[in-house]
Amino acid sequence: MKKYLVTFALITFIAACGGNAGNEKKGENTSASTGDITENPDYKAGLDLISKSDCLTCHKISEKLVGPPYQDVANKYAGSDTAVAHLAKKIIEGGQGVWGQTPMVGHPALSQADAEQMVKYILLLKTQ
Ligand code: HEC
Repeated sequence: MKKYLVTFALITFIAACGGNAGNEKKGENTSASTGDITENPDYKAGLDLISKSDCLTCHKISEKLVGPPYQDVANKYAGSDTAVAHLAKKIIEGGQGVWGQTPMVGHPALSQADAEQMVKYILLLKTQ
């Protein structure tokens, strides 16, 4: 009977350890996937370029100015494989009709690579 109890206690102990290990692993995964976006190299590189250009005279992160808030742009294109190239082209060429009838001026002096870097930053701002 005593032996039976010891075995039972051991099994409970092992099961409890296994459970804890599982939880810890889950915690790590969660923190990695919701990690701080400001630590992403695309965040800083894109924000630097945007700050040096005229973007922020028409765009804010979470409020509509002349153009749509960057958060809304990020939410709209979240998960799209073609968004970076498409939006970079739009920033360079300008355009209208997606968010309303106010046109965005073109930025022909920007390289495709710099415009794509700006878009990568914008897409990190998604809230959904
Ligand atoms: C003169 C004001 C103005 C400036 C300056 C401006 N934008 Fe815009 N932007 C707009 C407007 C207006 C729209 C909405 C266009 C539309 O409805 O198609 C827009 C749309 C966008 C979009 C979404 C395009 C789409 O098709 O969904 C992105 C991305 C963007 N701007 C990034 C930028 C970046 C980066 C810069 C700086 C290089 C910039 N904008 C400078 C006014 C501006």
